[in-house]
Amino acid sequence: MSTLIAVLLSLATIVMIVGLARKARQYRATPAPLKIPVTPAPKTTGGVVLRLAKEVIFFASLFRSNKWTWLFGWMFHVGLALAFIRHLRYVIDPDGMLGFMWPLISLEVVQSFGKYAGFAMVIGLLGLFARRILVARVRYISAPSDYLMLLLIMFIGFSGLMMSFVSHVDIVGVKTFMLGILNLDLQELPESAPLMIHLSLVALLGFILPVSKLLHIPGVFYAPTRNQVDNPREKRHLSPWAAKYDATRGSDKNAAAQ
Ligand code: HEM
Repeated sequence: MSTLIAVLLSLATIVMIVGLARKARQYRATPAPLKIPVTPAPKTTGGVVLRLAKEVIFFASLFRSNKWTWLFGWMFHVGLALAFIRHLRYVIDPDGMLGFMWPLISLEVVQSFGKYAGFAMVIGLLGLFARRILVARVRYISAPSDYLMLLLIMFIGFSGLMMSFVSHVDIVGVKTFMLGILNLDLQELPESAPLMIHLSLVALLGFILPVSKLLHIPGVFYAPTRNQVDNPREKRHLSPWAAKYDATRGSDKNAAAQ
């Protein structure tokens, strides 16, 4: 079982990283022929960085559009972020190469508060799930995958909470197992049903991520409506592939005339 879980987790990590990198490259190469920032939009690159930061950290545009969706969505993502930082203790060795991160990971606020962040995560997911069922407009546009993604992450959170609060697991053993995978020196996984479920679902999530709606993780940075500077009056916008047809540059006047 330890070997199976180790192989699944390793493959899922590779699929996830390669898949995300390929998608990000595809997004980067997709032409944005028109200036379409949602206004009011920043007029400088620094302003765009600030706008994206507000979007990623506070979900600013979602806040303006729907307070309930914002509340549950934000709760889930902040809970997830805290749980993520708390989980780093399983893969970071204080004496290893990334040991400099240890002070952050071992912070009281991350470890003790982070434990309860799992509840925020699951409550947020329940709210988002209820929204899909209760709001007729949202129910109409919801595909089975929308529900299944929420359920998958919900079960990961739920099995995690089971381990933290109900059926405790040997977390030193979990760390030995995870460091064993990273050092290609396989170790036994502690026996625990919630842990098996937790890790199998995490592997499944890794496999699905690059072909799912979770692609909004890299996608948000490539959205032209958010990442463009609002300067069409000051500067002519020309996507790189169109430059060769640009009559004003005189490179191919005939093509431009066509
Ligand atoms: C290989 C990756 C992972 C490992 C080894 C792992 C392991 C664990 C363990 C051992 C616990 C129990 C902690 C305790 O008893 O204090 C736990 C809890 C939890 N896990 Fe994971 N987990 C992984 C990935 C994930 C992912 C991807 C998510 C979210 C999508 C997640 C969400 C949670 C939550 C919400 C809790 C409960 C709160 C907490 O104790 O932090 N885990 N996990």
